[in-house]
Amino acid sequence: MSPKFLPLISQIGTRHGSRSYRTCELKCANQCDHPEPNTSGNEHIQTVMRSAFSRRNVLKVGAAGVAAAGVASLAANLPAAADQPVASGSFPGFDKHGALTHSVVPPNRKDDIVIPVGYQQAVVIGWGDPVEAGAPKFDAYKQTPEAQAKQFGYNNDYTMIVPLRDDRLALLVCNHEYTDENLMFPVGKYDAATIARIGQAAHGLTVVQIERVGRSGQWRRDKDGSRYNRRITVNTKFDVVGPAASDPRVGKVAYGTFGNCAGGVTPWGTILSGEENFNGYYDVTGTVPAEYVDSYKRYGVPTTATKSARQWSIVDARFDLTKTPTEVFRSGWVIEVDPYDPKAAPKKRTMLGRLKHEGATTTITADGRIAVYLGDDEKGEYIYKFVSAGTYDADNRKNNFGLLDEGTLYVAKFAGDGTADGVYDGVGQWIPLTSHNESFVAGFSVADVLINTRLAADKVGPTRMDRPEDVERNPVNGRIYAALTNNDKRGGTFAVDEANPLATSHVRATLDGPLIEKAGNRNGYILEISEEGDDAAKTGFFWTLFLVCGDPAAQETYFGGFDKTKVSPISCPDNVTFDGSGNLWISTDGNVLGSNDGIFTVPVAGPNRGQVKQFLSVPFGSEACGPLVSEDDKTAFVAVQHPGETDDATFEKPTSTWPHTDAFPRPAIACVWRKDGARVGS
Ligand code: FEO
Ligand code: CA
Ligand code: CA
Repeated sequence: MSPKFLPLISQIGTRHGSRSYRTCELKCANQCDHPEPNTSGNEHIQTVMRSAFSRRNVLKVGAAGVAAAGVASLAANLPAAADQPVASGSFPGFDKHGALTHSVVPPNRKDDIVIPVGYQQAVVIGWGDPVEAGAPKFDAYKQTPEAQAKQFGYNNDYTMIVPLRDDRLALLVCNHEYTDENLMFPVGKYDAATIARIGQAAHGLTVVQIERVGRSGQWRRDKDGSRYNRRITVNTKFDVVGPAASDPRVGKVAYGTFGNCAGGVTPWGTILSGEENFNGYYDVTGTVPAEYVDSYKRYGVPTTATKSARQWSIVDARFDLTKTPTEVFRSGWVIEVDPYDPKAAPKKRTMLGRLKHEGATTTITADGRIAVYLGDDEKGEYIYKFVSAGTYDADNRKNNFGLLDEGTLYVAKFAGDGTADGVYDGVGQWIPLTSHNESFVAGFSVADVLINTRLAADKVGPTRMDRPEDVERNPVNGRIYAALTNNDKRGGTFAVDEANPLATSHVRATLDGPLIEKAGNRNGYILEISEEGDDAAKTGFFWTLFLVCGDPAAQETYFGGFDKTKVSPISCPDNVTFDGSGNLWISTDGNVLGSNDGIFTVPVAGPNRGQVKQFLSVPFGSEACGPLVSEDDKTAFVAVQHPGETDDATFEKPTSTWPHTDAFPRPAIACVWRKDGARVGS
């Protein structure tokens, strides 16, 4: 069994908001109960505009003219561009045939995926299913680390499909963020060392070939296997690349990836994945070097004697920071995996900075370079962007393999327009932190900025956001959509500003319970950013809060100006994606309106801009990850993460048994398609 987890859970405090104590302990090491690491005191929005220019003068900004001109000239243009909902058809390529006509799934507490009328669903692959050749049949009572390292891992999160030779085969790539030992292991069956080793093998990433069922929108694991099938675990060798690799704190080799949350796909078909809550995996048995304490603290890494939830240091000394204090500097990066080359070592791309990386989504700038949008998911953290120095080569794939190692890393500052027109909007700028060979932050080398990105960003006055999760560009309208999932400390620890405006908001304890006012932003926002000139390389932007999430009956909510009596309640947006018509699909994590989490659709253009509709709900105790709409719009994928993860649940007494193949829950990826083969969402 895993009794060592139970005392830890009982010690946890009472400030976890929507999540179960179990989720908090295992997923993010109880960040809610720790002092917020961001104590940089970045200023209230009212002072941002006033001080923006004088502060910039002390920075070594090569393109100071561009950045300084950004806020002023954009502010002059603001009312015309950012205040107005987008008219129907005003985007090039907006498809008027992309209407979201699916029936609405109501809020519920079912232990199933609930889908619209006329749709079907099936599991594609789940925890324990074979991936690599020779993987034994899954048996929760006879599990071994070696078996798990060849099988599909636990707690599938980011999910992407990349094409193979025809439209009947594809590679599914997903990461396995973390493990729920209480739900994975029968009581008394395994010793602590075996649990640690199996847990390590259940983290990481999977590449697995999938096949279409007939001509339908259903996909399933290809039982014949594939030379591409691959598991990456906590013990896989990585090449560390980019400017920080030559720093002795990091080095050129790292082992494994864990805490991987959202991700992205590059134009050259590699997968990026963000190492998020890496801080919760380290033990401290004695002391840590004084020179690292500021850095450790800023990332929530323990600095005094601490036993982590999983205590991997009992089998692997590198997880004891007293023995290996630099090990933590090899986590918190964006990794890159080439799904088409199973022999290639995965990479840690240090030029993208070291954060609690949520995702890493790419787009191509007007002059052909690569921009990567990056969220740092913690209360009061920042949104980042990287722009490459080199340009994308569509004709020679390998010419792109170094693109993410040279360029400039920026952090975002938001300013409100200061009008009380019921719409939260304004302008902003991307403040450069470092290029690959020149730091723009006084007192920080290039490597310092990349290794201690939060500390460097604190120096340049970016805006402290309400937990920036997925940040992704809509390929149809070119705008950037960011999920700001929630922040119960907004209005308290973190002063409100126009981009983070709610000091109070409303929750429900149960499905039919009354709305209850709580401190902070409990239901989250969807932020919409328009880069200046629609060019991701520019340093100025407009922004608006497209959605202020929650129950539409709560006065603080806003749905892009759409009639609030005709929308679904939505709470805690986490990940976003787009269908071929540019409609926004949103998955949620941590609903505080009494319902299971789910996936929601919403048009961003036309007369129905802002009409949020629930597309599906996920099983009891789970979080909706992915989400993904296939390139042909025939399939929606959802990664069901941590089904049955509630405080009282154990392997023997689960609160979910989804997908109902066993007496215990198994995280899995499901696909949803229309019975008649038509476009999903219709
Ligand atoms: Fe792993 Fe930010 O959610
Ligand atoms: Ca997430
Ligand atoms: Ca999440």
